[in-house]
Parts: sequence; structure tokens; C-alpha cells
Amino acid sequence: MVTLTVELGAHRYPVRIAPGLLGDHTALASAIHGHQLLVVSNTTVAPLYLPTLQPLLDHYQWQPFLLPDGEAHKTFDNVARVLGALAEFGASRDASVLALGGGVVGDLAGFAAALWMRGIDCVQLPTTLLAMVDASVGGKTGVNLPQGKNLIGAFHQPRAVFIDPLTLATLPNRELCAGLAEIVKMAAIADPVLFDWLEQNAAALRARDLPALTHAITTSVGHKARIVAADEHEHGERALLNFGHSFGHAIESATAYTRFLHGEAVAIGMLVAARLSAHLGLADGIATERLARLLAALGLPTKIPPELHPEQLIGLLQLDKKVLAGQLRLILWRGIGRAEVVAGTDHAAIRQSLLDSR
Ligand code: NAD
Ligand code: GLY
Repeated sequence: MVTLTVELGAHRYPVRIAPGLLGDHTALASAIHGHQLLVVSNTTVAPLYLPTLQPLLDHYQWQPFLLPDGEAHKTFDNVARVLGALAEFGASRDASVLALGGGVVGDLAGFAAALWMRGIDCVQLPTTLLAMVDASVGGKTGVNLPQGKNLIGAFHQPRAVFIDPLTLATLPNRELCAGLAEIVKMAAIADPVLFDWLEQNAAALRARDLPALTHAITTSVGHKARIVAADEHEHGERALLNFGHSFGHAIESATAYTRFLHGEAVAIGMLVAARLSAHLGLADGIATERLARLLAALGLPTKIPPELHPEQLIGLLQLDKKVLAGQLRLILWRGIGRAEVVAGTDHAAIRQSLLDSR
């Protein structure tokens, strides 16, 4: 088992990674301090993996709370339902929420844990690749509003994160590839060695080779843990984790969140950001070509659908959460392994990069 630690001054927590970890009840019990557990999951994941946890759960007073499946259910109403379940349960300050599922379950369950009695323990048990390498680590919790995604939330670090790559065996292919996009993002902004390794191991990853997936997860989470420890509340380096996300969000929004998974839109978004960076003389075209080839090899889309107009996407970029004092702030690329936040990028250059990405 690999154990990484997220160091946040007074609070530090382990991220443990090992195939079969969901069945390692001694390890899981080490992160549970009270006797009451609310297990938040959804109707897809619970039938697959709740039985693995059952012998552990039977040592506690516990209840399941199952959400319907899908991003549409990441709502404040459902947070209120989880809080209602905690109240019915008589959950005390030392109760824990266990979040078993992808990022939707993890974000919502983490937010409910942040709110109950001003914050109780949440243990993250991510079951999608995206949640393993990104959403479960770092303490960003929250839900969507009709006006936009992730508009309400709180920073609430988990008590512990347990990553069992065996759960990826049942993940649909597109979801696996979407998670791979976030690993590429991490390599692109922070790790040229990982980038090379991904190029060499793209086929193994797509074939769900367990040692390859475990290596990619461990390396990626190591970077996330370091970045979160350095900048928990995103005043600096943590913003780099949004590489490709401003363009990605605009593409998701322009396609009504139905055509692309988040990771797929981020893949296209990273390429737009890379082209823009090359256009501005920050990165070279060879790095952009390598990024495009790697994303394609990992089964990810690389082009903006032609019916999406640059002006429409630029309009949507203005709604990005990173806009400050009316100025667009984009994560631009300095080549493989380096990125930076740049404010006030020329709209003509953005328009050209969007056109070149169709
Ligand atoms: P998701 O939670 O919707 O899961 C994707 C699909 O896979 C769902 O249908 C789910 O039921 C299913 N699933 C999950 N695990 C499975 C398994 N092992 N086998 C079979 N099916 C399985 O989506 P996601 O991509 O995991 O997460 C996306 C969410 O994460 C978004 O809401 C996004 O905002 C959030 N997010 C949060 C952070 C953060 O830092 N908190 C970072 C990135 C993304
Ligand atoms: N997913 C971006 C972050 O955790 O900051």
C-alpha cells in the first residue's frame, strides 16, 4: 500500500492507494473515530461496492444514503436531504460521513459533512478515476445551482482518502478516459517525466492495466497533495490545476453539459490553452503537438465542434470563476511541466486559438 500525506499545518491526512483497499477493513477503520457512519453513495455504485464494505460497517451504527445517479442531482436540495438524514440518525460530532462514489457523491457528501455541526469527518472512497486523482483530494466540496456549476461550497478537508484502483474495473470506458485527461493535465503543468511515461503507457492505461493505473494515480495524487499543501485556498499555485478548465467549462456550457464529459471538455480546453500559449510565444508548437497526440492516444476528443462559435465561447469565458475585476485570467502553458496564470490576454489571440482548435 502507498500512503501519501496531505500536510496542512495542524491538519494532515493520509491518501492511501492499493488495489483491494476497500476490503482492508483495518486500514479503513483507522480513519473512523466515532461509532456512527452515514454512507453516502448512489444507485449505481452502491450495489457494486457497498457489499465490500458491509463487514466493516457492521461494527458501527450506520445508515446508507443513496442519491440518484448523475450531475443533475448535485444540488442543495440533496445536501439538505443528507443533513436531514444525519438529524434523523441523531449524528453526533464524532459521526463520520463516508463518500463512496465519483466526484458528484464526493463533492456533495463532503459539503454535507462540512455543514453538519459546523463540520464532521468525511472519509472519501473515490470510485472514478477522476475522483481518485482530483476531486477526493484537496477539500473542495460543494454543489451546483441552476445558475452555474459548483457555485456553493466550502473547503472541508477529508479525514482520509482511500483509493482502490480495483473499482475502476466496472467504470465505463468514457469515464475512464475522462479521468485520464486530469492525469495528463497534472503531467502537463507539473511533471515532464510523467508526461513521457503517459506517452509510453497510453495503451496499457486504456487497457486498464492495474500496475499502470496505480502508478499514474499515485504520481498524480502526489502532485495534488503537494500543491494543496502549498496553497489550500487557491491564492496561487493551486489555480494551475485549472489548466484547460476555463475553455473546457465554456465548451461544456455551450453544449448544455450533455455532449462532453468534464474530462473530455478539459482535454479540448488544454489544447486551446496550449495553442494560445504557442501563439503568444510562451510555449512551442512541438509541445502542443505532443499534447494533442497523447490526448488522442488516450481516447479523448481534441477538437471544438465546428458549430460552436468563438464569440459564443469568449462570452462564456467571461462567466468563469477566475475572472477578477472584469479581467479574464487564464492558465497558460510554458511547455511540458510548466504553467502560469496570465491576466488580460488579448481577445484576438483567444479567438484565433479557438478557430485553430475546430
Ligand atoms: P460522477 O461522480 O458523475 O461519476 C461518473 C459516473 O460513473 C456516474 O454515472 C457514476 O455513478 C459512475 N461510477 C462511479 N464509480 C463507478 C464504478 N467504480 N463503476 C461503475 N460506475 C461508476 O463523475 P466524476 O467524473 O467522478 O466527478 C465529476 C464531479 O466531480 C463534478 O461534479 C465535478 O464538479 C466534481 N469535481 C470536483 C473536484 C474537486 O476538487 N472537488 C475536482 C474535479 C471534479
Ligand atoms: N480540481 C481543482 C482543485 O482541486 O483545485
